[in-house]
Amino acid sequence: MRVLVLGSGGREHTLVWKLAQSPKVDKIFCIPGNAGLCELAECHNLPLSDFDALTDFIRAKGVDFTVVGPEQPLVNGVVDYFQERGFPVFGPNRQAAQLEGSKIFSKKLMAQYGIPTADFREFDQAGEAFDYLDSLPEGPVVVKADGLAAGKGAVVCPNRAAAREAVHHMMNDLIFKDAGSRVVIEEFMTGEEVSIFAITDGKDLITLTPAQDFKRSLDGDLGKNTGGMGSYAPSVYLSPELHQTALDTIIYPTLKALQAEGILYQGVIYAGLMLTPAGPKVIEFNCRFGDPETQVVLPLLQSDLMEIFLAVAEGRLGEIEPSFYDGSAVCVVLASGGYPDFYTTGKVISGLEGLPEEALVFHAGTQKNERGQFITSGGRVMAVGAKQSSLQSAIDSAYRYIAGISFDAMHFRKDIARKALEHKI
Ligand code: AMP
Ligand code: GLY
Repeated sequence: MRVLVLGSGGREHTLVWKLAQSPKVDKIFCIPGNAGLCELAECHNLPLSDFDALTDFIRAKGVDFTVVGPEQPLVNGVVDYFQERGFPVFGPNRQAAQLEGSKIFSKKLMAQYGIPTADFREFDQAGEAFDYLDSLPEGPVVVKADGLAAGKGAVVCPNRAAAREAVHHMMNDLIFKDAGSRVVIEEFMTGEEVSIFAITDGKDLITLTPAQDFKRSLDGDLGKNTGGMGSYAPSVYLSPELHQTALDTIIYPTLKALQAEGILYQGVIYAGLMLTPAGPKVIEFNCRFGDPETQVVLPLLQSDLMEIFLAVAEGRLGEIEPSFYDGSAVCVVLASGGYPDFYTTGKVISGLEGLPEEALVFHAGTQKNERGQFITSGGRVMAVGAKQSSLQSAIDSAYRYIAGISFDAMHFRKDIARKALEHKI
């Protein structure tokens, strides 16, 4: 089969890497890709917003199947567009992708079907949001833009004054454009965060290994929120019993709720959960694989990913019994100095050629210069990781690999998954 992957991050490099292992896959294309994954896939630079150009590409290259990595094209309806033209694709259609594309949609769905999540109110008028904030007791509260805001749309506010400011920026200053013209104000929850992944064909589902990502830029979960500085799986905080509780109270009811609403959801349901004292609650739903969770979740999947994607598209996921490696995987993101604020790019990356075969190296912001060297081209440059029989040895291997890699002003967290190690003991 000839497969096309849409996207350019570490998640997409991992998807390409995993699909390349399938005996069903002869050739992989990627739009736009990055320098690392271009070693496994033929990369082309087309805008993901130009659905006509994408369908022309699919026809011209004889692509049999497309996998959509990021949320924006899903929310914009790329899947509907392909399906209307008879091109098989993995990912939810526009209506289903609202689960991530609209916080108000997903919160209302959860409220209506009794799926545990933070209490919330929605607003389309700033004045009403301010009045509501005034009525709350003093304390932390969370303000979220309704629409997609490149992962920056959720603001955890330490007090009501900060929340007023967040509402003002979103609704009056429109810092996220139309995505912030409606907001959700929700209860502040506490607990460990975990990411769980279900792949569904709309009828049946399979689950992947639960993971944990590290969003803050600095060790000790300090510093600013980023796209993710590392991850590991399986999460030590989600015991098999708690995972089952999360499936029974969240994932299965969500699939049932979507069915009851007449929405055919085919793709990944990624639930960001908070393990609160009252049990697992949904922080948010995403309609695609997580980044950087995919970089540890897919290496732990033993089964053929292409077979799973085909089963989803053909509505026969019930036939699939996935198998997993019994071990742990860890990845650490190497970022450009200054990220997530201002950073410079174009730095030569050295040490990659010395890595052993089993090192997991997934590029994100990389290019090649005219001398054929890898150079940095983004904030998150690559994720380097390992899969081992124990979490401790996976952490040790990942950091040993990283010790040999360098670029000017390279920054990475030194404590990825280390707290999880303490939890186990
Ligand atoms: P989101 O974009 O919705 O995933 O939110 C980004 C981050 O904000 C999450 O990973 C949490 O750390 C935090 N967060 C979001 N909602 C809440 C909440 N209701 N209570 C506490 N923290 C939250
Ligand atoms: N790991 C966070 C995300 O993919 O949204």
